[in-house]
Amino acid sequence: MKFFADTAEIADIKDLADTGLLDGVTTNPSLIAKSGRDFIEVTKEICGIVSGPVSAEVVALDHAGMMREAEILRKIADNVCIKVPLTIDGLKTCKALTGDGTMVNVTLCFSANQALLAAKAGATFVSPFVGRHDDNGFDGMQLIADIRLIYDNYAFATEILVASVRHGIHVLEAAKIGADVMTAPPAVIKGLVKHVLTDKGIEGFLADWAKTGQSL
Ligand code: G3P
Repeated sequence: MKFFADTAEIADIKDLADTGLLDGVTTNPSLIAKSGRDFIEVTKEICGIVSGPVSAEVVALDHAGMMREAEILRKIADNVCIKVPLTIDGLKTCKALTGDGTMVNVTLCFSANQALLAAKAGATFVSPFVGRHDDNGFDGMQLIADIRLIYDNYAFATEILVASVRHGIHVLEAAKIGADVMTAPPAVIKGLVKHVLTDKGIEGFLADWAKTGQSL
């Protein structure tokens, strides 16, 4: 499963990129606002740190406006992936952009039928939001399982990018279902390394090492 960082914070992206865990980055208008940075500048900087897809989201709601914004965004770097909302205009834009080889991430997916539409429009990625789905009393992971089943039934190439990931259980369940990608805040990705027995083991080994009186 590929790991994308859901952030526009440069220091966090650099830190994760150094671990070799990072396959891409996703941003959205809220994350750009949180960074306090210029959208184009920060996106360019992120594209220089990771070689994988970097999602940058359009804000226009109509097809013509989305195409105009996508034109600006895809000039930033070859690894920019244009993010469009799951609307009819978003799907039209997806079809047009992927038709000429541009990566597209269709975002704000909350149903398996919406994911079916994204695949039919040729999306590179579809982003079902599991955390927000759970928050609203639905089963986010059932949504991922349904999309996996449908995509496999018809051999759709669209990758399932599990988004709105809040904790390690989301990552584990997504991996068990066979999602292609998950995007999570850096803290959630780093949290996956934590285990009380790993910490206890290190403590024990260091205590025993100290008893040997040796040094390296
Ligand atoms: O980037 C889209 C998605 O991951 C947002 O997550 O936590 O705002 O629901 P969240």
